[in-house]
Amino acid sequence: QATSIPADRVPDMGKRELMNLLLLGAVSLPTGFMLVPYAAFFVPPGGGGAGSGTIAKDAIGNDVIAAEWLKTHGPGDRTLTQGLKGDPTYLVVEKDRTLATYGINAVCTHLGCVVPWNQAENKFICPCHGSQYNEQGRVVRGPAPLSLALAHADVDDGKVVFVPWVETDFRTGDAPWWA
Ligand code: FES
Repeated sequence: QATSIPADRVPDMGKRELMNLLLLGAVSLPTGFMLVPYAAFFVPPGGGGAGSGTIAKDAIGNDVIAAEWLKTHGPGDRTLTQGLKGDPTYLVVEKDRTLATYGINAVCTHLGCVVPWNQAENKFICPCHGSQYNEQGRVVRGPAPLSLALAHADVDDGKVVFVPWVETDFRTGDAPWWA
């Protein structure tokens, strides 16, 4: 009689085990869910593709689709998009109706005004102090000391992607001052 378990203890033990299971589940399930984004945070994005690229955004913040853009932007067009680090960046349509493989950063190298494109003059002319840049953004008149920065304009999955330009500036043959 002394060694037998009282009958009323048995369901109690079962309840305790169930409680433990439920508690364990209650703790580990949310933890598991939280660990997924936590771990994903440390996985570098891109997976070896474009790497540090940024999808160009149009004036209202939509991704720029290359084919759609070319339907509404003709040869010689230079229109501002949002580029690397949010910098205003011109997307260039070449004379043969293709997208140029470079974008032109619109921030004046003098004191940082956004430089508008002047179609009639075929130049970028800064309204702040009159600096001028040719149709590729190369400085042709001061006070701006340097040409406008470049970015690669690639097309990835149909979308325009800006990638930092770290190579020689093709307009001047100089090292890129912005890289
Ligand atoms: Fe453009 Fe001064 S900021 S010329």
